Amino acid sequence: MKDQLKAIGEEALKEIASSAGEGALEALKIKYLGRKGIITEIFKKMGEVPPDEKAETGRLINVLKESVAKALDAKLAAASDLEEGAKEKIDITLPGIPARLGRLHPITRTINEICALFISLGFRVVEGPEIETEHYNFETLNIPLEHPSRDAFDTFYLSWEKGYLLRSHTSPVQARFMEKNSPPFSIIVPGKVFRPDATDASHSFMFHQVEGLAVGDKVRFSDLKGTLEIFAKQMFGKDTRMRFRPSFFPFTEPSAEVDISCIVCGGKPLASGKRCSMCGGKGWLEILGAGMVNPKVFEKVGYDPDKVTGFAFGMGVERIAILKYGITDIRMFFENDIRFLRQF
Ligand code: DAH
Repeated sequence: MKDQLKAIGEEALKEIASSAGEGALEALKIKYLGRKGIITEIFKKMGEVPPDEKAETGRLINVLKESVAKALDAKLAAASDLEEGAKEKIDITLPGIPARLGRLHPITRTINEICALFISLGFRVVEGPEIETEHYNFETLNIPLEHPSRDAFDTFYLSWEKGYLLRSHTSPVQARFMEKNSPPFSIIVPGKVFRPDATDASHSFMFHQVEGLAVGDKVRFSDLKGTLEIFAKQMFGKDTRMRFRPSFFPFTEPSAEVDISCIVCGGKPLASGKRCSMCGGKGWLEILGAGMVNPKVFEKVGYDPDKVTGFAFGMGVERIAILKYGITDIRMFFENDIRFLRQF
């Protein structure tokens, strides 16, 4: 009996080990452990075992039954895992869902672009406060209290008595920088400016400017022209032409307003015969104000106007971005509409 049990055990384990698939294993379970299975049948033969061997034989049959059941269960569990796995196969070649990345605001991008360009020409980036005093916003720039041009740079006052205001241009940083530094130098000053203008498609009470200032012992108007020419060509394309129109700013003498040839029609009549919608048919687009630093400004910061000369310019960043990207309304920059911002 003992030998018979041993043989059955070996045979069963061999069969289990060599069979795969849930179906085959279930069949083996029935074959050995089912109601009429081989091991079940052996229990029925216990009557033939001599009484003094019964206990030991019973124990051996139970060991056999358990080891076969354990081997079958382990194999069955593995087989069912395998089949589940086959059903749930992950296709690693499927493209993933891309994360939506943020991006820089078009005004930030334009400022970065302008700054990078002037840095390559040897300019240094300097910043100044948005809350200014009347002294820097007006007086140091030769804009006296009673002067009519003060209206053009009028702004929001924070404290009338103390003369605190939101700067109406980046020009006050000219004096702030010159008071603390000696020429020669060339700087650009990007930043926010504020004016009490009613908001419409081309006006905003807050916008951005980039100021430029270069001072040395022989800085000439031609240096200003050359510098701005490089700026215009790099920013708007190498065929861009430039034009200087005489103008007036209290802090520059002489002063000019600078136009570039229209980036849409190039100043030539359109093939359609229609008037260019960008320049209104004029062929020119105004982009900035500039001039030679007024000697009075140098005097105010303690420079000797007989020894130094300099040029200055100031441009509106929104205006540059509007022209560059063909934007029709300045308010779009500040509405935070993701459909607009995502285009840059
Ligand atoms: N500050 C002027 C404005 O806001 C722009 C400007 C014009 C700046 C001429 C300059 C300049 O430095 O030379 O309208």
